[in-house]
Amino acid sequence: MENKPIESSRLNQVKSILGEEGYARAFAPIEKASGLPNPAYWSNFWLELEKEHCFRRSWVFAGADMEIPNPGDMKPVEIGGAPLVVLRDRDNRVRALHNVCRHRGTRLVSAPCSKSKITCPYHSWVYGLDGKLRARPHFKGPNITDTFSDGGGPDLDLIEARCETWNGCVFVNVSGDCEPLMDWLSPMLERTSGHDFSKIRWAGKLDFDVKANWKLVYENYMEGYHVFAVHPKLLKFAPMNVRWSGEWDRHVFYNDYIFPELDEGRGAGLPHYPNLSEDNKKRGLWFLCFPHFAAEVFPDQFTVLACYPVSPDRTREELHIFLIGDAADKDSYEEPRNALIKIWDELNREDLGMLDLLQQGRLSPAYDGGRLSPHWEGPTHQFGRRIIEKIVS
Ligand code: FES
Ligand SMILES: [Fe+2]
Repeated sequence: MENKPIESSRLNQVKSILGEEGYARAFAPIEKASGLPNPAYWSNFWLELEKEHCFRRSWVFAGADMEIPNPGDMKPVEIGGAPLVVLRDRDNRVRALHNVCRHRGTRLVSAPCSKSKITCPYHSWVYGLDGKLRARPHFKGPNITDTFSDGGGPDLDLIEARCETWNGCVFVNVSGDCEPLMDWLSPMLERTSGHDFSKIRWAGKLDFDVKANWKLVYENYMEGYHVFAVHPKLLKFAPMNVRWSGEWDRHVFYNDYIFPELDEGRGAGLPHYPNLSEDNKKRGLWFLCFPHFAAEVFPDQFTVLACYPVSPDRTREELHIFLIGDAADKDSYEEPRNALIKIWDELNREDLGMLDLLQQGRLSPAYDGGRLSPHWEGPTHQFGRRIIEKIVS
Protein backbone atom coordinates (compact mmCIF):
# COMPACT_ATOMS: atom_id res chain seq x y z
CA MET A 1 0.00 0.00 0.00
CA GLU A 2 2.89 2.28 0.74
CA ASN A 3 3.88 2.27 -2.93
CA LYS A 4 0.47 3.14 -4.22
CA PRO A 5 0.91 6.90 -4.75
CA ILE A 6 4.15 6.22 -6.70
CA GLU A 7 2.51 3.52 -8.80
CA SER A 8 -0.50 5.62 -9.67
CA SER A 9 1.61 8.65 -10.57
CA ARG A 10 3.74 6.42 -12.77
CA LEU A 11 0.63 5.00 -14.34
CA ASN A 12 -0.49 8.54 -15.09
CA GLN A 13 2.89 9.27 -16.67
CA VAL A 14 2.55 6.16 -18.82
CA LYS A 15 -0.96 7.09 -19.91
CA SER A 16 0.05 10.66 -20.65
CA ILE A 17 2.70 9.38 -23.08
CA LEU A 18 0.77 6.51 -24.66
CA GLY A 19 -2.68 8.11 -24.50
CA GLU A 20 -5.67 6.39 -22.88
CA GLU A 21 -6.47 4.54 -26.10
CA GLY A 22 -2.89 3.44 -26.75
CA TYR A 23 -2.69 2.17 -23.20
CA ALA A 24 -6.01 0.31 -23.49
CA ARG A 25 -4.98 -1.34 -26.75
CA ALA A 26 -1.80 -2.63 -25.19
CA PHE A 27 -3.99 -4.65 -22.85
CA ALA A 28 -6.73 -5.61 -25.32
CA PRO A 29 -7.05 -9.18 -26.63
CA ILE A 30 -4.76 -9.69 -29.62
CA GLU A 31 -7.64 -9.55 -32.14
CA LYS A 32 -8.41 -6.00 -31.06
CA ALA A 33 -4.95 -4.96 -29.93
CA SER A 34 -2.27 -2.71 -31.33
CA GLY A 35 1.42 -2.55 -30.72
CA LEU A 36 2.67 0.26 -28.51
CA PRO A 37 1.90 3.67 -30.00
CA ASN A 38 4.57 5.82 -31.66
CA PRO A 39 5.72 7.81 -28.60
CA ALA A 40 7.01 4.59 -27.03
CA TYR A 41 9.54 4.51 -29.89
CA TRP A 42 10.42 8.19 -30.07
CA SER A 43 10.07 9.68 -26.61
CA ASN A 44 13.20 10.33 -24.58
CA PHE A 45 11.14 10.41 -21.43
CA TRP A 46 9.65 7.01 -22.22
CA LEU A 47 13.12 5.59 -22.81
CA GLU A 48 14.24 6.94 -19.43
CA LEU A 49 11.35 5.05 -17.81
CA GLU A 50 12.40 1.87 -19.64
CA LYS A 51 16.04 2.27 -18.65
CA GLU A 52 15.19 2.77 -15.03
CA HIS A 53 12.47 0.16 -14.60
CA CYS A 54 13.13 -2.47 -17.28
CA PHE A 55 16.94 -2.45 -17.37
CA ARG A 56 18.25 -1.25 -14.02
CA ARG A 57 15.74 -3.39 -12.11
CA SER A 58 16.48 -6.58 -14.06
CA TRP A 59 19.33 -8.91 -14.77
CA VAL A 60 21.10 -7.58 -17.83
CA PHE A 61 23.69 -9.29 -19.99
CA ALA A 62 26.96 -7.33 -19.86
CA GLY A 63 29.07 -9.50 -22.17
CA ALA A 64 31.15 -12.65 -22.17
CA ASP A 65 33.69 -13.26 -19.44
CA MET A 66 36.20 -14.19 -22.17
CA GLU A 67 36.11 -10.59 -23.38
CA ILE A 68 38.09 -9.96 -20.20
CA PRO A 69 40.15 -13.16 -19.91
CA ASN A 70 43.03 -11.84 -17.76
CA PRO A 71 43.28 -9.94 -14.47
CA GLY A 72 43.12 -6.23 -15.22
CA ASP A 73 41.05 -6.63 -18.41
CA MET A 74 38.08 -4.32 -18.39
CA LYS A 75 35.12 -3.39 -20.57
CA PRO A 76 32.93 -0.32 -20.05
CA VAL A 77 29.21 -1.00 -20.43
CA GLU A 78 26.02 0.99 -20.06
CA ILE A 79 23.23 -0.72 -18.21
CA GLY A 80 19.99 1.20 -18.34
CA GLY A 81 21.95 4.38 -18.94
CA ALA A 82 24.26 3.79 -15.96
CA PRO A 83 27.95 3.68 -16.88
CA LEU A 84 29.65 0.62 -15.41
CA VAL A 85 32.89 -1.17 -15.99
CA VAL A 86 33.06 -4.94 -15.97
CA LEU A 87 36.53 -6.18 -15.04
CA ARG A 88 38.54 -9.15 -13.88
CA ASP A 89 40.24 -8.47 -10.57
CA ARG A 90 43.54 -9.85 -9.26
CA ASP A 91 41.77 -12.91 -7.86
CA ASN A 92 40.24 -13.68 -11.26
CA ARG A 93 36.83 -12.62 -10.09
CA VAL A 94 34.58 -10.78 -12.53
CA ARG A 95 33.19 -7.62 -10.97
CA ALA A 96 30.99 -4.75 -12.10
CA LEU A 97 31.88 -1.33 -10.73
CA HIS A 98 30.05 1.91 -11.30
CA ASN A 99 32.30 3.65 -13.78
CA VAL A 100 32.35 7.03 -12.09
CA CYS A 101 34.96 8.73 -9.94
CA ARG A 102 33.96 9.45 -6.35
CA HIS A 103 35.57 12.89 -6.58
CA ARG A 104 33.91 14.97 -9.28
CA GLY A 105 32.09 12.24 -11.14
CA THR A 106 34.30 11.74 -14.17
CA ARG A 107 33.65 8.60 -16.15
CA LEU A 108 36.73 6.52 -15.52
CA VAL A 109 37.06 3.92 -18.28
CA SER A 110 36.04 4.83 -21.82
CA ALA A 111 37.17 1.85 -23.89
CA PRO A 112 38.03 -1.83 -23.37
CA CYS A 113 41.58 -2.03 -21.99
CA SER A 114 43.89 -3.86 -19.62
CA LYS A 115 45.30 -2.09 -16.55
CA SER A 116 46.59 -2.94 -13.11
CA LYS A 117 44.65 -0.06 -11.56
CA ILE A 118 42.08 2.55 -12.53
CA THR A 119 43.36 6.11 -12.61
CA CYS A 120 40.87 8.90 -13.03
CA PRO A 121 41.80 11.08 -16.02
CA TYR A 122 40.79 14.31 -14.21
CA HIS A 123 42.77 14.58 -10.89
CA SER A 124 44.40 11.14 -10.94
CA TRP A 125 42.71 9.48 -8.01
CA VAL A 126 43.81 5.87 -8.16
CA TYR A 127 41.56 2.87 -7.53
CA GLY A 128 42.44 -0.82 -7.31
CA LEU A 129 40.75 -3.50 -9.39
CA ASP A 130 38.61 -4.18 -6.33
CA GLY A 131 37.30 -0.61 -6.59
CA LYS A 132 39.05 0.53 -3.43
CA LEU A 133 40.63 3.98 -3.42
CA ARG A 134 44.40 3.75 -3.20
CA ALA A 135 45.76 7.26 -3.61
CA ARG A 136 44.83 10.92 -4.05
CA PRO A 137 47.78 12.98 -5.26
CA HIS A 138 47.91 16.65 -4.15
CA PHE A 139 44.51 16.36 -2.46
CA LYS A 140 45.63 17.96 0.79
CA GLY A 141 48.06 20.36 -0.84
CA PRO A 142 50.97 20.47 -3.29
CA ASN A 143 53.03 17.31 -3.47
CA ILE A 144 51.15 15.54 -0.70
CA THR A 145 49.70 12.20 -1.69
CA ASP A 146 47.04 10.57 0.45
CA THR A 147 47.46 6.84 0.34
CA PHE A 148 45.06 4.15 1.53
CA SER A 149 46.16 0.66 2.40
CA ASP A 150 42.65 -0.76 2.55
CA GLY A 151 40.55 1.71 0.59
CA GLY A 152 38.78 4.87 1.62
CA GLY A 153 35.53 3.33 2.82
CA PRO A 154 31.99 3.72 1.56
CA ASP A 155 32.34 7.42 0.72
CA LEU A 156 35.44 7.05 -1.42
CA ASP A 157 35.66 3.57 -2.93
CA LEU A 158 34.03 2.81 -6.27
CA ILE A 159 30.54 1.44 -5.88
CA GLU A 160 30.07 -2.14 -6.87
CA ALA A 161 27.01 -3.47 -8.69
CA ARG A 162 25.66 -6.98 -8.36
CA CYS A 163 27.36 -9.19 -10.91
CA GLU A 164 27.22 -12.93 -11.58
CA THR A 165 28.38 -15.19 -14.37
CA TRP A 166 26.68 -18.22 -15.87
CA ASN A 167 28.72 -20.41 -18.23
CA GLY A 168 30.77 -17.51 -19.53
CA CYS A 169 27.92 -14.99 -19.68
CA VAL A 170 28.26 -11.98 -17.37
CA PHE A 171 25.09 -10.51 -15.88
CA VAL A 172 24.62 -7.32 -13.89
CA ASN A 173 21.70 -6.17 -11.77
CA VAL A 174 22.11 -2.47 -11.02
CA SER A 175 19.28 -2.16 -8.48
CA GLY A 176 20.73 -5.14 -6.59
CA ASP A 177 17.36 -6.57 -5.60
CA CYS A 178 16.54 -9.05 -8.37
CA GLU A 179 15.90 -12.71 -7.71
CA PRO A 180 18.96 -15.02 -7.79
CA LEU A 181 20.33 -15.25 -11.34
CA MET A 182 19.58 -18.98 -11.62
CA ASP A 183 15.93 -18.37 -10.71
CA TRP A 184 15.73 -15.71 -13.37
CA LEU A 185 17.20 -18.04 -15.98
CA SER A 186 15.14 -21.04 -14.89
CA PRO A 187 12.26 -20.75 -17.41
CA MET A 188 14.90 -21.06 -20.15
CA LEU A 189 16.91 -23.76 -18.41
CA GLU A 190 13.84 -25.90 -17.73
CA ARG A 191 13.22 -26.14 -21.49
CA THR A 192 16.83 -26.92 -22.31
CA SER A 193 17.60 -29.57 -19.71
CA GLY A 194 18.94 -31.79 -22.54
CA HIS A 195 21.63 -29.24 -23.42
CA ASP A 196 24.80 -29.29 -21.36
CA PHE A 197 25.63 -25.57 -21.24
CA SER A 198 28.78 -26.22 -19.24
CA LYS A 199 30.30 -27.13 -22.63
CA ILE A 200 29.72 -23.77 -24.33
CA ARG A 201 32.80 -21.65 -25.14
CA TRP A 202 32.87 -18.08 -26.38
CA ALA A 203 33.94 -17.85 -30.03
CA GLY A 204 33.57 -14.10 -30.57
CA LYS A 205 31.05 -11.35 -31.07
CA LEU A 206 29.61 -9.09 -33.71
CA ASP A 207 28.64 -5.46 -33.08
CA PHE A 208 25.82 -3.67 -34.84
CA ASP A 209 24.65 -0.08 -34.85
CA VAL A 210 20.88 -0.28 -35.24
CA LYS A 211 18.96 2.76 -36.42
CA ALA A 212 15.87 1.82 -34.50
CA ASN A 213 14.40 1.64 -31.05
CA TRP A 214 15.63 -1.32 -29.00
CA LYS A 215 12.12 -2.79 -28.65
CA LEU A 216 11.79 -3.17 -32.41
CA VAL A 217 14.81 -5.46 -32.42
CA TYR A 218 13.12 -7.86 -30.00
CA GLU A 219 9.66 -7.55 -31.53
CA ASN A 220 11.27 -8.59 -34.80
CA TYR A 221 13.27 -11.31 -33.08
CA MET A 222 10.18 -12.93 -31.61
CA GLU A 223 8.00 -13.26 -34.69
CA GLY A 224 8.76 -15.71 -37.47
CA TYR A 225 6.09 -14.11 -39.64
CA HIS A 226 8.59 -11.97 -41.61
CA VAL A 227 10.96 -14.86 -42.40
CA PHE A 228 9.37 -15.73 -45.77
CA ALA A 229 9.80 -12.14 -47.00
CA VAL A 230 13.11 -11.09 -45.45
CA HIS A 231 15.31 -14.17 -44.92
CA PRO A 232 15.47 -16.38 -48.03
CA LYS A 233 18.28 -18.57 -46.71
CA LEU A 234 16.73 -19.04 -43.29
CA LEU A 235 13.40 -19.84 -44.94
CA LYS A 236 15.00 -22.66 -46.88
CA PHE A 237 16.48 -24.04 -43.66
CA ALA A 238 13.29 -23.73 -41.61
CA PRO A 239 10.19 -23.12 -43.78
CA MET A 240 7.06 -21.40 -42.54
CA ASN A 241 5.24 -24.66 -41.84
CA VAL A 242 7.65 -25.66 -39.04
CA ARG A 243 7.16 -22.35 -37.27
CA TRP A 244 4.73 -21.12 -34.65
CA SER A 245 4.30 -17.94 -32.64
CA GLY A 246 6.09 -19.07 -29.51
CA GLU A 247 4.79 -18.00 -26.12
CA TRP A 248 5.73 -16.36 -22.85
CA ASP A 249 6.42 -18.49 -19.82
CA ARG A 250 6.69 -16.17 -16.83
CA HIS A 251 9.21 -13.44 -17.84
CA VAL A 252 10.74 -15.55 -20.62
CA PHE A 253 9.56 -15.79 -24.23
CA TYR A 254 10.42 -18.99 -26.00
CA ASN A 255 9.95 -20.40 -29.47
CA ASP A 256 11.25 -23.41 -31.28
CA TYR A 257 11.08 -25.51 -34.43
CA ILE A 258 12.30 -28.82 -35.72
CA PHE A 259 14.22 -28.20 -38.94
CA PRO A 260 14.38 -30.80 -41.72
CA GLU A 261 18.16 -30.90 -42.33
CA LEU A 262 21.34 -29.61 -40.71
CA ASP A 263 22.89 -26.73 -42.62
CA GLU A 264 26.01 -24.59 -42.63
CA GLY A 265 25.94 -22.45 -39.50
CA ARG A 266 23.06 -24.48 -38.12
CA GLY A 267 24.37 -27.75 -36.83
CA ALA A 268 26.56 -28.92 -39.74
CA GLY A 269 30.35 -29.15 -39.50
CA LEU A 270 30.73 -28.23 -35.82
CA PRO A 271 30.56 -30.36 -32.69
CA HIS A 272 27.18 -30.69 -30.98
CA TYR A 273 26.21 -30.59 -27.33
CA PRO A 274 26.95 -34.06 -25.94
CA ASN A 275 24.18 -36.64 -25.72
CA LEU A 276 21.48 -34.67 -27.50
CA SER A 277 18.15 -36.42 -27.98
CA GLU A 278 17.07 -37.18 -31.57
CA ASP A 279 14.64 -34.23 -31.40
CA ASN A 280 17.23 -31.81 -30.09
CA LYS A 281 19.65 -32.80 -32.86
CA LYS A 282 17.33 -31.00 -35.28
CA ARG A 283 15.83 -28.42 -33.08
CA GLY A 284 16.30 -24.70 -32.83
CA LEU A 285 15.05 -22.90 -29.72
CA TRP A 286 15.11 -19.24 -28.98
CA PHE A 287 14.42 -17.27 -25.85
CA LEU A 288 14.07 -13.75 -24.61
CA CYS A 289 14.66 -13.38 -20.89
CA PHE A 290 13.04 -10.00 -20.29
CA PRO A 291 14.18 -7.37 -20.93
CA HIS A 292 17.07 -8.05 -23.30
CA PHE A 293 18.84 -11.39 -22.93
CA ALA A 294 17.98 -13.19 -26.15
CA ALA A 295 19.53 -16.62 -26.60
CA GLU A 296 19.33 -19.00 -29.55
CA VAL A 297 20.09 -22.65 -29.00
CA PHE A 298 20.97 -24.89 -31.94
CA PRO A 299 22.70 -28.30 -31.70
CA ASP A 300 26.11 -26.68 -32.19
CA GLN A 301 25.80 -23.29 -30.48
CA PHE A 302 24.44 -20.86 -27.94
CA THR A 303 24.10 -17.44 -29.53
CA VAL A 304 23.23 -14.35 -27.52
CA LEU A 305 21.71 -11.17 -28.90
CA ALA A 306 21.76 -8.25 -26.47
CA CYS A 307 20.63 -4.69 -27.17
CA TYR A 308 21.64 -1.53 -25.37
CA PRO A 309 19.46 1.51 -26.04
CA VAL A 310 21.49 4.58 -27.00
CA SER A 311 18.60 6.91 -27.79
CA PRO A 312 14.97 6.32 -28.78
CA ASP A 313 15.98 5.70 -32.40
CA ARG A 314 19.43 4.19 -31.88
CA THR A 315 20.50 0.87 -30.40
CA ARG A 316 23.81 -0.85 -29.90
CA GLU A 317 23.55 -4.55 -30.49
CA GLU A 318 26.03 -7.26 -29.54
CA LEU A 319 25.75 -10.77 -30.92
CA HIS A 320 27.87 -13.26 -28.98
CA ILE A 321 28.54 -16.70 -30.37
CA PHE A 322 29.31 -19.61 -28.08
CA LEU A 323 30.27 -22.95 -29.61
CA ILE A 324 30.64 -26.38 -28.12
CA GLY A 325 33.96 -27.54 -26.64
CA ASP A 326 37.05 -26.97 -28.74
CA ALA A 327 35.04 -25.61 -31.71
CA ALA A 328 35.72 -22.17 -30.24
CA ASP A 329 39.52 -22.66 -30.24
CA LYS A 330 41.50 -20.62 -32.74
CA ASP A 331 43.18 -23.60 -34.35
CA SER A 332 40.28 -25.94 -34.88
CA TYR A 333 37.13 -25.79 -36.97
CA GLU A 334 38.15 -22.50 -38.51
CA GLU A 335 36.18 -22.88 -41.71
CA PRO A 336 32.78 -23.93 -40.30
CA ARG A 337 33.21 -21.48 -37.44
CA ASN A 338 33.79 -18.59 -39.83
CA ALA A 339 30.85 -19.75 -41.96
CA LEU A 340 28.61 -19.71 -38.89
CA ILE A 341 29.71 -16.21 -37.91
CA LYS A 342 29.16 -15.02 -41.49
CA ILE A 343 25.65 -16.46 -41.55
CA TRP A 344 24.72 -14.62 -38.36
CA ASP A 345 26.15 -11.42 -39.76
CA GLU A 346 24.17 -11.75 -43.00
CA LEU A 347 20.98 -12.72 -41.23
CA ASN A 348 21.22 -9.80 -38.86
CA ARG A 349 21.90 -7.35 -41.65
CA GLU A 350 18.75 -8.54 -43.43
CA ASP A 351 16.84 -7.45 -40.33
CA LEU A 352 18.66 -4.12 -39.90
CA GLY A 353 17.11 -2.67 -43.06
CA MET A 354 13.63 -3.54 -41.85
CA LEU A 355 14.28 -2.12 -38.40
CA ASP A 356 15.28 1.22 -39.90
CA LEU A 357 12.00 1.28 -41.89
CA LEU A 358 9.96 0.31 -38.83
CA GLN A 359 11.46 3.19 -36.88
CA GLN A 360 10.80 5.69 -39.68
CA GLY A 361 7.21 4.49 -40.05
CA ARG A 362 6.63 5.38 -36.44
CA LEU A 363 7.03 9.07 -37.32
CA SER A 364 3.70 8.87 -39.11
CA PRO A 365 0.66 10.33 -37.33
CA ALA A 366 -1.34 7.86 -39.44
CA TYR A 367 0.16 4.89 -37.58
CA ASP A 368 -1.51 3.86 -34.33
CA GLY A 369 0.40 0.72 -33.39
CA GLY A 370 -1.06 -1.36 -36.21
CA ARG A 371 -3.14 -4.50 -36.59
CA LEU A 372 -1.38 -7.64 -35.45
CA SER A 373 -1.62 -11.23 -36.64
CA PRO A 374 -3.29 -13.33 -33.94
CA HIS A 375 -1.50 -16.34 -35.40
CA TRP A 376 2.02 -14.94 -35.17
CA GLU A 377 2.21 -11.82 -33.08
CA GLY A 378 0.60 -12.55 -29.72
CA PRO A 379 3.98 -12.69 -27.93
CA THR A 380 5.15 -9.49 -29.64
CA HIS A 381 2.07 -7.75 -28.35
CA GLN A 382 2.67 -9.13 -24.86
CA PHE A 383 6.21 -7.76 -24.91
CA GLY A 384 4.79 -4.21 -25.08
CA ARG A 385 2.40 -4.99 -22.27
CA ARG A 386 5.25 -6.38 -20.19
CA ILE A 387 7.19 -3.14 -20.64
CA ILE A 388 4.26 -1.13 -19.31
CA GLU A 389 3.74 -3.54 -16.42
CA LYS A 390 7.40 -3.34 -15.45
CA ILE A 391 7.37 0.45 -15.55
CA VAL A 392 4.32 0.79 -13.32
CA SER A 393 5.16 -2.10 -10.94
S1 FES B 1 37.10 13.64 -10.84
FE1 FES B 1 38.27 11.89 -10.56
S2 FES B 1 40.01 12.56 -9.57
FE2 FES B 1 38.84 14.35 -9.76
FE1 LIG C 1 14.56 -11.54 -38.91
